[in-house]
Amino acid sequence: MTRPPISALLAQRKVICCVGSGGVGKTTTSAALALRFAVEGKKTLVLTIDPARRLANSLGLSALGNRETRIGDELFRAAGLKPHGEMYAMMLDLKLTWDELVDRQAPSPEKARQIKENRLYQTLSTVMAGSLEYMAMEKVYELWRTGRFDVVVLDTPPTANALDFLHAADRIVDVLDNDALRMLLGPLLKASRVGLRLFALPTGIILKTLGRFTGQDFLRDLAQFLVAFEGMYEGFKERAGEVKHMLSSRDAAFVLVTSPNPLTIEEALFFHRALASDGVQTAAVVVNRVQRDPHRFGGPDSVPALREALQLAQIKDGGDPLLSQRLARTLAEQSTLADLDRREVERLERMLSGVPLYKVPRLRKDVHDLAGLWQIDQCLSAMQE
Ligand SMILES: Nc1ncnc2c1ncn2[C@@H]1O[C@H](COP(=O)(O)OP(=O)(O)O)[C@@H](O)[C@H]1O
Ligand SMILES: [Mg+2]
Repeated sequence: MTRPPISALLAQRKVICCVGSGGVGKTTTSAALALRFAVEGKKTLVLTIDPARRLANSLGLSALGNRETRIGDELFRAAGLKPHGEMYAMMLDLKLTWDELVDRQAPSPEKARQIKENRLYQTLSTVMAGSLEYMAMEKVYELWRTGRFDVVVLDTPPTANALDFLHAADRIVDVLDNDALRMLLGPLLKASRVGLRLFALPTGIILKTLGRFTGQDFLRDLAQFLVAFEGMYEGFKERAGEVKHMLSSRDAAFVLVTSPNPLTIEEALFFHRALASDGVQTAAVVVNRVQRDPHRFGGPDSVPALREALQLAQIKDGGDPLLSQRLARTLAEQSTLADLDRREVERLERMLSGVPLYKVPRLRKDVHDLAGLWQIDQCLSAMQE
């Protein structure tokens, strides 16, 4: 099957989410895509929630903040690139994004202040399961709605699961709008009395947070929190619906990133099925760090040919075993690994028939600047057969 360059495949998309297991190259792929579109003339943003600062590093920047940082011309120049558009990068700050959302949803600035000052809110907004995923989607939705960028590429965190992203909005609403919780708290809200029953709250998330508070303080904070949030559930619910709508529209695309490792491929297949069961198609799959077969490049690989090449390069063929022999063995090993990778990629291709698959070879060096990202892009942009 022939495939178009990935940028052509995704040209109409405004939101691109790169998902996959940890360490496979999601951050690198996200940044490479945003770079490609910027060079082509779009205004792009790559948004990361990866706290490990990998994005800043791969862009050759020392740090990133909760505001968009424009990738300077000098960084493009250093990579020999001349962008026709602009590229921005940003690292999501969970707490700040929650605060902004509360500011927007609260009926009055006073109410927003009450919520933000509540200690339970302060803890929940950072530790609540799914909070990160929800806020990433919230941010992407906001950026998509305002149309400030032609395309936003979301780099998902190492631990995230494609499903978490699709369901994050529902889960947040569930936590905020938990009927059982409100029923239990009903009398408390009125009487502000401590009831032991509260400690048997059904919501695991709340329970997790419980340990951080002493009984009295916790209950007071919880009551205040719920009172403050009263009336905001509808807004959240509506918003959650809108986010879901955006993600399943033609504007959004999910790119599955994987390595050729059999276990990672299993995880990729799981992600693919999880997306499909939510009615979301995988737009493309990127198999990153595929071992190249040295035998296929026509370079010297037999001991005599290597010996000759070493002679030409005026390198002494010494040691025991000889350097030429060790090189030949390394090349043979690489060839075996390449063969294993090729078989895994073929298996994946069969399993995901119909999903365009892009192979990116394992590069010699880590990707830590625009030149490296561009190299990744060249593999994604090549016509492949
Ligand atoms: N094709 C590649 N060749 C060589 N190194 C790569 C390649 N792709 C990614 N890397 C390196 O692998 C590491 C992990 O990549 P990263 O994009 O941070 O993965 P993830 O975001 O999925 O955790 C980084 O150090 C990156 O520079
Ligand atoms: Mg990452």
